[in-house]
Amino acid sequence: MRQFTSNELRKAWKQFYIDRGHVDVGAVSLVSDGSTGVMFNVAGMQPLMPYLLGQKHPLGTRLCNVQGCVRTNDIDSVGDKSHVTFFEMMGSWSLGDYFKKERCQWSFELLTQVFGFDADHLAATVFAGDENAPRDEEGAQYRIASGFKKENVYYLPADDNWWGLEYGPCGPDSEMFYIADRPDCGPNCGPGCDCGKYTELGNDVFMQYEKHHDGHLTPLKQKNVDTGWGLERILAFLNGTRDVYQTDLFAPVIAYIEEASGVKYNADEKLTRSMRILADHLRTGVMLIGDEAKLLPSNTGAGYILRRLIRRAVRHGRTLNMTTEQLLHIAAMYIDEIYAESYPLMKKNREFILSELQKEIARFESTLENGMKELQKILEQKRSEGKKEIDGKSAFYLYDTFGFPLELTVELAQEENLTVDEEGFAAAMEEQKQKAREGQNFSQKLTTAAGVFDGLDDKITSEFVGYDALTAEGKVVGLASETELVNTLNEGETGTLITDVTPFYATMGGQKGDFGVIRTENGTFEVTETVKIAGGRIGHVGK
Ligand code: SER
Repeated sequence: MRQFTSNELRKAWKQFYIDRGHVDVGAVSLVSDGSTGVMFNVAGMQPLMPYLLGQKHPLGTRLCNVQGCVRTNDIDSVGDKSHVTFFEMMGSWSLGDYFKKERCQWSFELLTQVFGFDADHLAATVFAGDENAPRDEEGAQYRIASGFKKENVYYLPADDNWWGLEYGPCGPDSEMFYIADRPDCGPNCGPGCDCGKYTELGNDVFMQYEKHHDGHLTPLKQKNVDTGWGLERILAFLNGTRDVYQTDLFAPVIAYIEEASGVKYNADEKLTRSMRILADHLRTGVMLIGDEAKLLPSNTGAGYILRRLIRRAVRHGRTLNMTTEQLLHIAAMYIDEIYAESYPLMKKNREFILSELQKEIARFESTLENGMKELQKILEQKRSEGKKEIDGKSAFYLYDTFGFPLELTVELAQEENLTVDEEGFAAAMEEQKQKAREGQNFSQKLTTAAGVFDGLDDKITSEFVGYDALTAEGKVVGLASETELVNTLNEGETGTLITDVTPFYATMGGQKGDFGVIRTENGTFEVTETVKIAGGRIGHVGK
């Protein structure tokens, strides 16, 4: 195996594909435009979905890049050696160009010639077949023809060897693994087993189907290949460690945390976990604020996730006795050193990132101080009552009054060996929303009495697409303040917005309308209620 720095690895990846006729398409924003139903860019293929579905890409049919991604679905695993919330995916694509033969040959060349793996230690999996698609005999043959040993090619079911997002292009995939020189852990040991014998290296997806919103599949008009390798993990592996925090993407930060906190990395399990969470979450915070979308912490959507990440980082920083200045120093290390070459945008947005981080840390610290006192009272009360659980109402009180995210209350309670009634928390949250809706009554006034939209052209109606989709793209075709039609609504002003297409269900027949967010190029509209308006229109009420 060859050793790489992160900068060398990104370059080697792109050069390998450029040499084989691919064009480097560069990376897009980490914050999703909402068209795929997720808040962040979660895979390198996500921005390419229209092209995988058949639209012509302006740069051709062979593409490659290194794309930042944010996945927070397994945030609870962050703190171990390999999980991270921001990661880079090294990708390459054939858009209806080459298929399995070239793909398998090039993957083998990349593994053996660029990364220096020995062929005997490589394994691959292919799709075993089910009612959706046949067994991938062809994929297996090409893997073997490329140089994989026949006995190291495994057929696995869809759970392991089918890849796609919730909807859109998808298909059978074939993963590549490194086999360590050690005995099987048991009779079922093989790729996918987490005993440590098999390490996943990368994934080639043969995208030939489209998954529709109702779940059914249709063949695509073109056969694509979507290849993705996680940069952090492969970087660690190539450098002889399984710990991504010991690669050059984190090592300087970990060394600084050691110095600032006086805690040795890997000496204490709990504190090491805190060091990793701090390093990871701050890195993702820097990337999201410095992103072209300039995401800011808030109480909804992607901004809320960012807020959670920063606040969690601060809390673990506090566990390590680190000051705000020291946390900001870590952020600056990512900007000035670690990502200086690969993410110049961070440098450009340096002052913005640091000042927004500082503001959010200050907001959280004042919240924490008050909330902690309150939590102590609750904990003491529970202890004196001999209870092992914090009730949902108390957890909601901490959330509502002190801005304590539920996860924080759960974590703090765990440290005291208490659990939190999470269902009770959700019920208290729902109860409050209900009260807010009832107390508001604004929409009634607007739709029945004011008739503000009466002056709109009759042709302006809304198409409801919410039976199939939770998100949709549309045009704003009508906007009103509480009393009249307007062209703009300013921050904090309440109004009603009509779009030509909407996935928001309007209150009808006793069923409550939807709430959510509408984003435009220059604003965010928080929908608290959706109502029917005369003339076949759906009104989104909010701020
Ligand atoms: N999209 C596939 C994955 O995320 C391959 O890039 O694994």
